[in-house]
Amino acid sequence: MSQTLPVSPADDVTVLIFGASGDLTSRKLIPALYRLHKDGFLTDKSLVIGVARRPKTDESFRNELLAAGSDHARDGMDLDSWNRFAQRLHYVQADLGSHEDFLALRQQVETLEQQSGLSGRRLVYLSTAPELFLPSVESLAAAGMIPPSDQRDKLRVVIEKPFGTDLASAEELSQQLSRLLAEDQIYRIDHYLGKETVQNILLFRFGNAIFEPLFNRTHVDHIQITVGEAQGIEGGRGGYYDKAGALRDVLQNHVLQLLCLVAMEPPASFEAEYIRNEKLKVLQSLSPGRPGGAVGEWAIAGQYAAASIKGKRVKAYLDEERIGEDSRRETFAAMQVRIDNWRWAGVPFYLRTGKRLPARVTEIAIQFKLPPLNLFHTVECDGDVCGIVDARPNTLVFHIQPTDSISLTFCAKRPGMTYQMQPVKMDFSYQNSFSGGLPEAYERLLLDAMRGDSTLFTRSDELEAAWRFLDPVLKEWESANHRPELYPAGQWGPKAAHELLGRSGRAWRTPELEFNPPKPTVTDTMDMKPVE
Ligand code: BG6
Repeated sequence: MSQTLPVSPADDVTVLIFGASGDLTSRKLIPALYRLHKDGFLTDKSLVIGVARRPKTDESFRNELLAAGSDHARDGMDLDSWNRFAQRLHYVQADLGSHEDFLALRQQVETLEQQSGLSGRRLVYLSTAPELFLPSVESLAAAGMIPPSDQRDKLRVVIEKPFGTDLASAEELSQQLSRLLAEDQIYRIDHYLGKETVQNILLFRFGNAIFEPLFNRTHVDHIQITVGEAQGIEGGRGGYYDKAGALRDVLQNHVLQLLCLVAMEPPASFEAEYIRNEKLKVLQSLSPGRPGGAVGEWAIAGQYAAASIKGKRVKAYLDEERIGEDSRRETFAAMQVRIDNWRWAGVPFYLRTGKRLPARVTEIAIQFKLPPLNLFHTVECDGDVCGIVDARPNTLVFHIQPTDSISLTFCAKRPGMTYQMQPVKMDFSYQNSFSGGLPEAYERLLLDAMRGDSTLFTRSDELEAAWRFLDPVLKEWESANHRPELYPAGQWGPKAAHELLGRSGRAWRTPELEFNPPKPTVTDTMDMKPVE
């Protein structure tokens, strides 16, 4: 059976990667472009040109990327496909701030395009340090590489995160960029939106009739969103991370985007502007989980301390490479927020993200209300020992990492002569239900950007609304007398994060236990003997 393409390939295009010596290029961008080329989504005529300051030849650039890419490409790389792709791969040495270098770059790009019979449609990917986003676009403009507005689909620019460091800087960057590029030429990337299970949230909600009627304050007790990472600060990232922290690095973008998808209203149609309008409304309705309370009552900052994990000593954040001595930067952020609209009024949303947590887990858990009356006992068992436990609510979980799945827990009658129920789980997983691997987030996003589809990219007003909400937290956490609370590496954040839920009688889920279930806490042993 021939493979049908779900979407058409991109038109012939030149992809320019600025900051091509960086890690993102070798780990994510090139493996994704290689795969798109292999699968027929990137045409044979298209070009990929890496641009950076270090001296390299096409040959050395290709060899480096092959070595790094083999470890990172989904399903590895096969040499024939790589060699075909590598012929389209070039390197140009340029300093992104130098006008002369940009004039030379323009010349080389045009020559390569002429040799390939390309029309000059370009996608520029800014994989640079954030302070180079604007200078790079200014250099493109000064070198005459920004087409007139009636041909603006000839240039699209993908901008990595972080887009600004707070509301004022994000607004300033948007404003400066808007002098040079139209909004529909700017693609602000949040790679979480390219993940298959993240896209599935909207399809699951708005493509089925039975779940959506439950997504509201009548039925939902609360929602928890977790983006947890077991790793600490990877070598080389300390300088960036110590300025950013968990709030800017992950919560402001990935976590709030997940929140938008799970909470937004159905869009009028499945098109970029309609979807982004609905996401924006969620961000505009965000408010602190404790109205009128101090920041510390609803937003918790933590920093990991040294600990021993499975017998291995793990160092403290402060001892990681390139971290300021006595840094007060948070490696963990948790929040209780509300969405003040008719659908969600009164429903707490608990958000958390952090480094050096017990597991790499990303999930959204929707916990429903308990039935109004307990007609039956709920029972859980550990081997042959069963016991009565507290009533268990229904929970719908979107598992985004490490598995791509959705599970629904509910209670079912235990077999036998009693009317007792036990929590059970219904599971859907991509791996078990579909053959073939899932596309990597960057494959999807690069293809969409090449094709001019901005559905999975963030609009400037969404970003600004997110910063507007978080600005008071940033201000508080960066004030002179604020210190994040320490938590031992390998734990689910500091004590205050647990108290955030504890005071309303709720608790964070322990997601890693999904993969390694514990023995249930038996509160009362049961007599399983038949009635005489
Ligand atoms: C990036 C952050 O945006 O997301 C990293 O800068 C983080 O610090 C990463 O590790 C997590 O992404 P993923 O896809 O591995 O969950």
